[in-house]
Amino acid sequence: MKTRITELFGIQYPIIQGGMHFVGFAELAAAVSNAGGLGIITGLTQQTPEKLAKEIAKCREMTDKPFGVNLTFLPTFAKPPYPEYIQAIIEGGVKAVETAGRNPQEYMPLLKEAGIKVIHKCTSVRHSLKAEAIGCDAVSVDGFECGGHPGEDDVPNFILLPRAAEELKVPFVASGGMADGRSLVAALALGAEGMNMGTRFMATKEAPIHENVKQAIVAASELDTRLIMRSLRNTERVLDNAGVEEILRIEREKGAALQISDIHGKVAGIYPKVMIEGDMDSGAWSCGMVAGLIRDVPTCKELIDRIMAEADMLINKRLAGFAKN
Ligand SMILES: Cc1cc2nc3c(=O)[nH]c(=O)nc-3n(C[C@H](O)[C@H](O)[C@H](O)COP(=O)(O)O)c2cc1C
Repeated sequence: MKTRITELFGIQYPIIQGGMHFVGFAELAAAVSNAGGLGIITGLTQQTPEKLAKEIAKCREMTDKPFGVNLTFLPTFAKPPYPEYIQAIIEGGVKAVETAGRNPQEYMPLLKEAGIKVIHKCTSVRHSLKAEAIGCDAVSVDGFECGGHPGEDDVPNFILLPRAAEELKVPFVASGGMADGRSLVAALALGAEGMNMGTRFMATKEAPIHENVKQAIVAASELDTRLIMRSLRNTERVLDNAGVEEILRIEREKGAALQISDIHGKVAGIYPKVMIEGDMDSGAWSCGMVAGLIRDVPTCKELIDRIMAEADMLINKRLAGFAKN
């Protein structure tokens, strides 16, 4: 399939695996890229730029296809050494970067001089337009359904994607709630040129995370996610569990007076416990409503082949059939 996104990144199918903390390691990124999509290594999961350089080198040994690196700009007190991380990306010969969180304007000259294509993840049309204005090559438009940080506007993709299509000149992918061929065809119909998936790629054979996490996603329905940290304007969609119920209880109790320190123990340092040790109740980890559409743990190739076959059937049979009558 050819779209502006496949052309931009030199990939076979317009399917991107979004950066995911403690999930987006070389094994997953390489598997997605080998299957024809764009795999993404999560930059900040590697504690130092040197470790990221090693992860990039490892991925390079596992695939000769293009892959990218995610750089998340967080409102943290201890700012990670972003220029050094970018240097590792440039020296590793990576040509695609997915930025997220804060506006990446400060780092655009560095990235563009190195010939890197930048796709910025946004949860609103206004942020997407800003990304376009600062020179991003594409946008990943992340609807309210998404796993992770959906922003504070709460606009779902059935509205957000056509609104983005009305305003943007750069190509964009649909992100949040994407799982299968139906998602891809719908995304294309709404104006996107591909899709980005997070939660769906966690439940794959190659995702280097604990089996408990994959099984929790398969078992979950679309009703099983919760929004936390709303009152801190740092909303995160997570899978419900005992740790999350505890966060919600504290949030109810503290109301508008809630401070991050009140829930710190349940939101910080949780990812290694969940993803590596499989401790499912330790606290909050991102998960999309799309869990309700995930029922198996295929390989990335099986998943992407299935998506493309379903998309082909939908476009050429189901939709073409409607158009004839
Ligand atoms: C476990 C998990 C961790 C994530 N970590 C990050 C991250 O570190 N940086 C980032 O930009 N997005 C992160 N995301 C968001 C994904 O890249 C993607 O935008 C989102 O999952 C799309 O929604 P979906 O889960 O419905 O597919 C994470 C998502 C999940 C599920």
